[in-house]
Amino acid sequence: MHLLVKPGAAFRLDPHLDYIKKMVAQGGPEPRHYASFERWLTYVAMELRTERMTKEELHMLHEAFGRALSLETNQGLGLRKPHGYPGDYEIIDRIYREHITDDPHLRNWDLYFHTQAAPRAVRNRKAYFIDLLHALVASVPGTDSLPVLNVASGPARDLFEFFQGNGRDPRVTVECIDADPKAIAYAEALCAPYHDRATFHEANALRFTSDVRYRLIWSAGLFDYFGDKGFIFLLERLLAMLDDEGELVIGNFSRKNTTRDYMEVIGEWDLYYRDEDALRALARSCGVADEDVRIGQEPEGVNLFLHIKRGHSFLRMQARLNGASHPFRYAG
Ligand SMILES: C[S@@+](CC[C@H](N)C(=O)[O-])C[C@H]1O[C@@H](n2cnc3c(N)ncnc32)[C@H](O)[C@@H]1O
Repeated sequence: MHLLVKPGAAFRLDPHLDYIKKMVAQGGPEPRHYASFERWLTYVAMELRTERMTKEELHMLHEAFGRALSLETNQGLGLRKPHGYPGDYEIIDRIYREHITDDPHLRNWDLYFHTQAAPRAVRNRKAYFIDLLHALVASVPGTDSLPVLNVASGPARDLFEFFQGNGRDPRVTVECIDADPKAIAYAEALCAPYHDRATFHEANALRFTSDVRYRLIWSAGLFDYFGDKGFIFLLERLLAMLDDEGELVIGNFSRKNTTRDYMEVIGEWDLYYRDEDALRALARSCGVADEDVRIGQEPEGVNLFLHIKRGHSFLRMQARLNGASHPFRYAG
């Protein structure tokens, strides 16, 4: 790509419009264009962050994509947000299914979409959850029931595959909550063959409470949308619903996400990125002892997982919280 842009020069939209129009005319990026397209994304993301490029100019750039940014493409679905919020069940399930449009002129955009680190990390987190469920079953002998809470369950493709595989241990029942009624309907239909094992409720995670004490609480693709205050608030609520022997696992994208520029420039899809230290600090803010925390990651290293396992120090922390005048006062 030769945009002839000199460092420090005033931002000019025209060369970028020409670049995109050319890319669109040739039918989207082919593998030989990926590196230069990514350099272009890095450049535009920097111009946006430094506010040399305005949102209005970004939207003019989006218009230049034409149908390549319509609902027909994954990136278009990501940008247009037809369900009203980023990261809806539809785009997430397209990522899981590696959906590619039938339109030969738009195909390259979807092929490029799925090669990137972020969709790969999302697919990996499905496997991560399934592995956790198998580990739960394997680690608990006997007939104890193993209630699981899945917070912000989205399409529930992960559960569907768990049950479809050999995850039919009758002890495992999964309660799924999601704030989007369309996500609930979609997931319920997908998991219909396993309705005795999974239940779905429309609920805002921030208000959800239950008398059940869960052996596993899982939440992926939710905390990345919360600032630290919301993160701490929800983490404390979920900790209160964890069984004495339970484990709580929260996914959060890390700054290793090399797809960040694409997400922000093409999809206006912003996340709160957190590294290992930030996740540990947030757990500490909720009064969780360091020894009760471990950080996992999927193979891309993009999606991190904060694991909190109950132990003696956790129980001490609960006693302290219970004694506090406000149940969600942050210890630490
Ligand atoms: C990125 S998807 C993740 C879905 C699923 N956990 C996965 O990893 O495949 C985010 C989901 O969070 C749901 N969501 C967003 N805010 C929520 C809230 N406050 N309470 C419950 N669900 C919420 C959305 O409706 C959406 O289905």
